[in-house]
Amino acid sequence: MAIGRADSAGGVLEIDLAGIVANWRYLAQQVAPATCAAVVKADAYGLGAAAVAAALAAGGCRRFFVATLDEALALRTAITAPLEIAVLNGPAPRSTAEFAEHGLVPVLNDPGQIEDWGRAGTRQTPLPAMLHVDTGMARLGLTLPEFERLADGLRCSSAICWHGVISHLACADEPAHPLNSQQRLRFATMRDRFGDIPASLAASSGIFLGREFHFDFVRPGAALYGVNPLVGAPNPMRQIVRLDARILQIREVDAGQPVGYGASHVMATPGRLATVAVGYADGWLRSLSHRGSGRIGGVRVPMIGRVSMDLAVFDVTAVDPLVARPGRFIELLGQDYGVDAAAADGHTIGYEILTALGRRYHRVYRYVASASTQ
Ligand SMILES: Cc1ncc(COP(=O)(O)O)c(C=O)c1O
Repeated sequence: MAIGRADSAGGVLEIDLAGIVANWRYLAQQVAPATCAAVVKADAYGLGAAAVAAALAAGGCRRFFVATLDEALALRTAITAPLEIAVLNGPAPRSTAEFAEHGLVPVLNDPGQIEDWGRAGTRQTPLPAMLHVDTGMARLGLTLPEFERLADGLRCSSAICWHGVISHLACADEPAHPLNSQQRLRFATMRDRFGDIPASLAASSGIFLGREFHFDFVRPGAALYGVNPLVGAPNPMRQIVRLDARILQIREVDAGQPVGYGASHVMATPGRLATVAVGYADGWLRSLSHRGSGRIGGVRVPMIGRVSMDLAVFDVTAVDPLVARPGRFIELLGQDYGVDAAAADGHTIGYEILTALGRRYHRVYRYVASASTQ
């Protein structure tokens, strides 16, 4: 991964690892005696899987989920502690040997994956796996008829050592949605049929649907990284990322001055503009054009005009010129304006703001527990 230099990168991305561990502990407390895994796929939602998983492992997390074999191998290499690494997308054809060699736990999603994995293990050396059952999302996992057909044989398979049976909720962020309880009931029935194997249904939002959704372990991702699992209610999680954009230029402009591509913003009054070195190539989404905002010197400054590939423009007329000057930073994400606020302005979800965060930023990982509260 290219990491921007401290002295010249267009943005500084600070990641609060102690906050991620605090978020994990908070969720773990919510679900005890069930246990809490951590989802670190997509490079821990863009924040750096090696650093995030190392911090979580030191904090007590033992079970991690990634999406792909490559992500799992990178994690295995980065962390020497004996962690369980489960791979949500399961083994691609001809990858079973690599899974077995590195002690990875595939999540088996369809009869083909199950067959391949069953052939790779033996009675003497059964191989670990989790089974994914589809309880209503129609995305991954055995369908109900497939499960009915295969369940008895799978339970008794001597070639597979079952580490879990999982399913995923489609509407956990809408507590009143009837699909939540339908999925829970289907999952409970399938799980009972499958035997005494650790079961997991809930991710971030599902944790807050109530105890009956916790089963044996939960699999949060987004909430660890500060995304609000309770849509429309106060966020119980700590904000984890802070993003500061470097001011490249300041200019005084007259009323009537058009700003940026398409001249889509025209200054109504004279003012002062700051051009920062962050654009949509850095994950500062183009859909934030005319809508995003930043903070500098305690002042909220509106972003004006369209976001371009490497640059964005803020109206800093209200900021002391000694504060808003080249080389200083405008805060784009932080405690006042978090990933969910940026997501709302950019017509997307916090997950996308995080996973889009660019590779050109200078990244700073903070390990020390901060004074900020949940
Ligand atoms: C199967 C599965 N489990 C857990 C998660 C984590 O979800 P969240 O980030 O909402 O906690 C995901 C995320 O997409 C997933 O696909």
